[in-house]
Amino acid sequence: MSEEIDNKPLAIASDHAGYALKEQVKIWLSQWGVAYRDLGAFDERATDYPDYAHAVADGIYKGQFSLAILVCGSGLGMGMAANRHAGVRAAVCTDSFTARSARTHNDANVLCLGSRVVGVGVARDIVKTFLEASFEGGRHIGRVAKIENR
Ligand code: RB5
Repeated sequence: MSEEIDNKPLAIASDHAGYALKEQVKIWLSQWGVAYRDLGAFDERATDYPDYAHAVADGIYKGQFSLAILVCGSGLGMGMAANRHAGVRAAVCTDSFTARSARTHNDANVLCLGSRVVGVGVARDIVKTFLEASFEGGRHIGRVAKIENR
C-alpha cells in the first residue's frame, strides 16, 4: 500500500446505492490493514450522493484525509460533486488500468466506484490497485498542476 495512507485514515462514503459495496470495501481495507473513517451512509435508505461527496472532499481540502473512496450507483455523481472542491482529483474507475492511471498519471486522491457498474471481483482489483499505486511525478507534475491552475 502507498505511504500516503499510512499517515491518515482513508475516508470512505456512499449513498444508498453504494452502501453494500462500501461495506464490502471496508472488509477488504481491514484485511489489508488500511485505517479508514466511514462518513456514511449507514444503511440503504434513499439519500443524496452529493452530501457524502462534499463531506469527504471537504475533509481532503482540510487535510484530514489524503485518500478517499466514494461509492454510488454509477460513481459519476460522486465524482462530479467531489471534483467541485479545490485540491480534490476524483476519478471514476472501472478497471485496474483506470485505477492505476488515476494514481500514477493524475495523482487522483479520490476513487469513485459504481456499484451498478462493476462486480465485486473487479471492485476489489480496482481498490487494491488504486491503493498500491503512487504518483509517478516527473512529466505529470505540471499537467496535474494545470488542472487546478486554470
Ligand atoms: C441513485 O439512484 C443513483 O442516481 C446514484 O447512486 C448515482 O449513481 C449518481 O450518480
